[in-house]
Amino acid sequence: MSLVISDHFGLLNILVIKLMDSQFASPKNMENKGLLMMNHLFSPFEFKGLELKNRLVMPPMCQYSVEKKDGVANDWHYLHYVNRAIGGAGFIIIEMTDVEPDGRITDFDLRLWSDEQIPVLARIVEACHKYGAKVGIQIAHAGRKAEDAAVQVT
Ligand SMILES: Cc1cc2nc3c(=O)[nH]c(=O)nc-3n(C[C@H](O)[C@H](O)[C@H](O)COP(=O)(O)O)c2cc1C
Repeated sequence: MSLVISDHFGLLNILVIKLMDSQFASPKNMENKGLLMMNHLFSPFEFKGLELKNRLVMPPMCQYSVEKKDGVANDWHYLHYVNRAIGGAGFIIIEMTDVEPDGRITDFDLRLWSDEQIPVLARIVEACHKYGAKVGIQIAHAGRKAEDAAVQVT
């Protein structure tokens, strides 16, 4: 069960983590699902050692907002992610981030394959932590959909 609040620019998109509680999943509680969701939404969640302060999760959402075609996050990314942490999200997953040149979707993707791409991302993570959010990142390779794929899927 997930709840998504979304706008088309991805600025408000938050998702209630797919609840894995046995209590939530149990058929006897299904009729109280709505109520339980409200009860659980702001309660902590622990999964394989990852402790979240609540179940508000921002999913990975491509923003194509790198300006210099170098894959380096900028002030825009900083505001975009840290704002969500200030807003109370428990878990923020940074957008699809390319792991090698051939796997880029566009020149405006975030990238994480060289040292100069690390500091701004690290600053974003540090600031999100300050506001109590945990941070993940979706590393990605676009395969044959990549901009520079030898044989592109259209
Ligand atoms: C603007 C936007 C960008 C997105 N970018 C990604 C992305 O980078 N990686 C990904 O796995 N999903 C991406 N998605 C999909 C969202 O993660 C997905 O919509 C969200 O998890 C809600 O799940 P649902 O649409 O299946 O309910 C994007 C969605 C939007 C609206």
